[in-house]
Amino acid sequence: MATLGVNIDHVATIRQARRTVEPDPVWAAALAELGGADAITVHLREDRRHIQDRDLEVLRQTVQVKLNLEAAIAPAMIEIACRVKPDQVTLVPEKREEITTEGGLDVVTHRVATAEAVRRLHAAGISVSLFIDACPAQIDAAIDLGVAAVELHTGEYANATTDKDRHERLVELSRGAVMVRQAKLALNAGHGLTYRNVVPVARLEGMGELNIGHSIVARAVLVGFAEAVREMKGLIATP
Ligand code: PXP
Repeated sequence: MATLGVNIDHVATIRQARRTVEPDPVWAAALAELGGADAITVHLREDRRHIQDRDLEVLRQTVQVKLNLEAAIAPAMIEIACRVKPDQVTLVPEKREEITTEGGLDVVTHRVATAEAVRRLHAAGISVSLFIDACPAQIDAAIDLGVAAVELHTGEYANATTDKDRHERLVELSRGAVMVRQAKLALNAGHGLTYRNVVPVARLEGMGELNIGHSIVARAVLVGFAEAVREMKGLIATP
């Protein structure tokens, strides 16, 4: 059964809109845990647009479930990860001008830099997941890098505007999932998942952690954080 990693970046986005102290993503993490989150995910971006270094430090001390840090392969970010020691680091691509992460990390093109980041994280005892597109060349490269997990990028599936397109994207994800499972890597997925589109992805065979942020935070504004997490957990945990 799929598990739920709640991405709390956008709680910090609201705080940073006023450069104030509220809402505190640390509080959101506690409420997410009460709502049934299996993991808390944060993306410490190089431009620090939402999550701050302080958030990561306090979350490391307070989160009781798995703490998953999304980070770019840049050496400065890997250094922070190795010091703070989250339970898992998910390596993601990062462009300063993007609104959110666009596409998976290209581990074929950035093989050497990714391998170095993975080596340093493994040396620090941290499990690594690679956020990649569900494309055979990327999955093969990820397998070669010896990581424990991959997170398949579900953005294209989420953005599909017709049933046919959505179905084709789901088939791609499903084929990618088979490759990941056959290589005995943990299978994660995320990006753009919502209460409306999550179920088919959650039901892919062998699905592990689903990392979901924007949709949960958007609902939490209206129904409360723990309730929003409970509702999402209910959807993905229903066989
Ligand atoms: N997984 C990864 C690797 C991401 O970069 C993000 C966005 O930070 C998410 C999942 C969550 O995406 P969303 O906010 O669209 O649910």
